[in-house]
Amino acid sequence: MTVALTNMIETVAVEFSHNANQHMSGGLKALDGISVTVAKGEFVAVLGRNGSGKTTFARMLNALLLPTGGSVRIDGIDTVDESRIWDIRSTVGMIFQDPDSQIIGTTVEEDVAFGPENLGLAPEEILSRVQKALQSAGMLQHSRTPPHLLSGGEKQKVSLAGILAMQPECIILDEATALLDPAARKEVMNLVRGLNRDKGITVLHITHDMEEAWLADRVILLDAGKIVQDGKPAEVFSNSVVIKEAGLELPQIAELFELLKQDGFNLLTCTPNMDEAQAALINCMNPVRDQHVHQH
Ligand SMILES: Nc1ncnc2c1ncn2[C@@H]1O[C@H](COP(=O)(O)OP(=O)(O)OP(=O)(O)O)[C@@H](O)[C@H]1O
Ligand SMILES: [Mg+2]
Repeated sequence: MTVALTNMIETVAVEFSHNANQHMSGGLKALDGISVTVAKGEFVAVLGRNGSGKTTFARMLNALLLPTGGSVRIDGIDTVDESRIWDIRSTVGMIFQDPDSQIIGTTVEEDVAFGPENLGLAPEEILSRVQKALQSAGMLQHSRTPPHLLSGGEKQKVSLAGILAMQPECIILDEATALLDPAARKEVMNLVRGLNRDKGITVLHITHDMEEAWLADRVILLDAGKIVQDGKPAEVFSNSVVIKEAGLELPQIAELFELLKQDGFNLLTCTPNMDEAQAALINCMNPVRDQHVHQH
């Protein structure tokens, strides 16, 4: 009997240097001892200032880069195992920042079919996957549209459909929302959140947008190639000193909670949920009423 693995990603003491000379001379490594486990079905936001190692880490998870120290396992497969490279690449799909650099087809459906065609699938299987992927990404009505006529948000949805057609278990978005306007960002985020919730797809969302990080189950904060925080968004964002030391701004609501704490208000962890935040603020600013409520 085979036991299903529960971890999608397991890294142990991963190191990586882009430049071998730098590595030999003890210079800064792009990744410096990353040990992390991501369970299947988790939705993780990865944060960190420019150059902190986010993209390098993402590329490790798809075997686009191999560690210079330590190990990376994807669904139990070691990424150094060359014979399994296509298993890894079809398990982990990546979407990047620039929608134009990822789209190659002359129509949307042709673009989405590209991945399954490379897997050597039968034509009817390819057609069925393309239809389903476009449906899931909300782009079915654009099947015959030339991609250059689409907006940035629509192009990212086509990229996502192209990944979905490979039936991945894990999707990594490397600042895939960064160039989109707020409405398109929200649509792409809702889509990805839905894929995570409804299909159990593991998501790693690399972002500079702190508000988007609130949507994750877990936040990993990188600085200088190391993990400096790993926890639920509310816990991580309550640690304002670490966030600021890592060169990031707190989400606005967390900043407000922080300022009120400094003013002596008894607020514990911050929350992205407006109703909960309002209740916490009312309670802490109204201790007499709070006691009164609890006595009855
Ligand atoms: N191809 C490369 N050659 C040499 N050094 C690189 C290369 N790519 C990245 N680096 C260096 O590795 C470190 C980590 O870079 P990386 O791109 O992973 O950071 P990042 O967190 O994704 O940054 P950003 O937020 O700007 O995308 C940086 O010091 C960067 O200069
Ligand atoms: Mg990057």
